[in-house]
Amino acid sequence: MKKYRIAIVGAGGIVGAHIAAIASHADRVELVALVDIDQNRVEQICHENRIPNAYTSVSEMLERERPDLVHVITPSATHTSLSIQCLKAGAWVFCEKPLCGSLAEFDAITRAEAETGRYVSTVFQWRFGSAGKHLKKLIDTGALGKPLVGVCNTLWYRTQDYYGLAWRGTYQDAFGGPTVTLGIHLMDLFLWLMGDWEEIRAMTGTLDRDIEVEDVSMALVRFANGAMTTVTNSALSPRQESYMRFDFQKASVECTTLYRYNNEHWKISLPPHVDEPDTLAQWEALTEDVQGSHEQQLRELLDSMDAGQRPFVSGSEARRIIEFISCLYKSAKTGLPVKRGDLTAEDPFYFTNKGIVEVPA
Ligand SMILES: NC(=O)c1ccc[n+]([C@@H]2O[C@H](COP(=O)([O-])OP(=O)(O)OC[C@H]3O[C@@H](n4cnc5c(N)ncnc54)[C@H](O)[C@@H]3O)[C@@H](O)[C@H]2O)c1
Repeated sequence: MKKYRIAIVGAGGIVGAHIAAIASHADRVELVALVDIDQNRVEQICHENRIPNAYTSVSEMLERERPDLVHVITPSATHTSLSIQCLKAGAWVFCEKPLCGSLAEFDAITRAEAETGRYVSTVFQWRFGSAGKHLKKLIDTGALGKPLVGVCNTLWYRTQDYYGLAWRGTYQDAFGGPTVTLGIHLMDLFLWLMGDWEEIRAMTGTLDRDIEVEDVSMALVRFANGAMTTVTNSALSPRQESYMRFDFQKASVECTTLYRYNNEHWKISLPPHVDEPDTLAQWEALTEDVQGSHEQQLRELLDSMDAGQRPFVSGSEARRIIEFISCLYKSAKTGLPVKRGDLTAEDPFYFTNKGIVEVPA
């Protein structure tokens, strides 16, 4: 069987997770090149990991290597242009989160997909854990009853030093604060599990970090199925926690963790004084214990490439969180509720979470 030729663009902090994920599929792929604008860094990482070709230019790499798949893992503001460049060179793309900073950018990527017949999948490894997938199945089959109430909290802690890297606290380069940089994983998982969201009312604040963007956001969200939830994203929480809670008609399901989860991080509770052995049995039917990881997501992406089909976390499955975040910022900045579908190309929040489109002088 032909092995897919993979290249990575970006040799920073997250590159190790991508190299390990690729290595775990060595029977299906070969890592042919790494690109970074920092020549010393790219040569060092290539040397340490026996990657045969180091480049400082993406165009040159695409021209010479003709990869089937490119992992784009550079700073977020470069994702859209690099993803489109790779699509146009004939490659599929596996791009780190956040894929882009606006619906305008997302829709440009979608147009490039349509032109090239290739696809871009966003890295959202949290969707690939066995417990999350199991819960999705139980929700979709109605085994737990209707979802009624939910909580999605990303309560993390980032110091002023963390924001010392100038790009981190800005709309232009980071697209926002913890909402888009930290909470995006949990919110993506939460929204996927809960079904279509319908309306959001949000507040953002910059309470304790000297940055342009928010260091905390809170939102009330109503879903199409009627469920009501709260969503909090914080960079200010000394006891860090990622927490999701779903109250269904028949049970509460909770996940308490920090950066990743296994089955042990999840628990189910039945209503007091109710004996529902069927509900418990359905939850306990979960036997495999898989952590959501880059490796798991890459496996399914390679399956999609084999089948020539749109990968799971792309298209409408990737647009949902970008639209949600844009609407969260719009609600916070206007003080008004925002409905899903409200953001059209006439709206400044279609272009930027800052809500102000800056025209170059
Ligand atoms: N999925 C996750 O859990 C996870 C975790 C951490 C980071 N990330 C995401 O991964 C991305 C990268 O994060 P990081 O922490 O590795 O960043 P980083 O700043 O450590 O590294 C980025 C690298 O990209 C290089 N670079 C910048 N512009 C480039 C260009 N045009 N062409 C080639 N190389 C270029 C830089 O020189 C640097 O080496 C970000 O989007 C971040 O949000 C995801």
